[in-house]
Amino acid sequence: MPTVRDLKTKAGNEPITMLTAYDAPTAAIIDEAGTDIILVGDSLGNTSLGYETTLPVTVDDMARHTAAVARATDDALVVADMPFLSIGVDESASVENAGRMIKEADAHAVKLECGPHTVDLTEKLVQLGIPVMAHLGLTPQHVNQYGGYPRQGTDQEAAERILELAEAHADAGAFSLVLEHVPANLAADVTQALETPTIGIGAGPDCDGQVLVIDDVVGLSEWSPSFSKQFGNVRAEMESAVDDYVSAVESGEFPAEEHSHEEADLEELY
Ligand code: KIV
Ligand code: NA
Repeated sequence: MPTVRDLKTKAGNEPITMLTAYDAPTAAIIDEAGTDIILVGDSLGNTSLGYETTLPVTVDDMARHTAAVARATDDALVVADMPFLSIGVDESASVENAGRMIKEADAHAVKLECGPHTVDLTEKLVQLGIPVMAHLGLTPQHVNQYGGYPRQGTDQEAAERILELAEAHADAGAFSLVLEHVPANLAADVTQALETPTIGIGAGPDCDGQVLVIDDVVGLSEWSPSFSKQFGNVRAEMESAVDDYVSAVESGEFPAEEHSHEEADLEELY
């Protein structure tokens, strides 16, 4: 079983690899490639559920998709994202919701979009045996506050706030820190300052690891952020397979003899 301690050992020696997954077949592919961490991100809302933002994603959605990913994963650490308002409102509800990801969905850890309100909660969850990945910088659940998805930590004061929050969550026991869409030199400073592994997305090359959304990596997304990179073209493959299927049915080419079961010895029914 993968552990959060393995990551601490890896950090600084070898880059940590992390990708999102939302379903069993994708998780199996990612796991077999030797990826260290599979994040069931609340990006599920955008990638798979057809929402404009992550805000409508529910705890039930996350539990269902995390369970599917966990069933297909043998080696990677499975981390479940906590969706909008499922944590940070009241402590016992937060603990209960995070606990569902472990008890019901078989995640090894949870990820929280962090702010000053998640420091004590991180400590509480860690004390209870729920490892916490802290997510800092751009936190997409604040889209209505930001009015979009702008880069964070771009002036001195904002950069200091992010470093302080990173320190506070590391001290509270977070096992890793995701840094999203922040300047590369800020991510490098946070990585330098803290022993807790950092995992960047749009945060430059100096983090201890990198994460991307799987749909962006394989080329399934209709849109992807400028800091991601497309390594394949699954959308084009799917479009061509679906076009070919439709044409083959329309032309009568499919199903052919080899796709048909032998006829049974039946009397004419009418
Ligand atoms: O939901 C998600 O996919 C994430 C990653 C981009 C870090 O939070
Ligand atoms: Na997320």
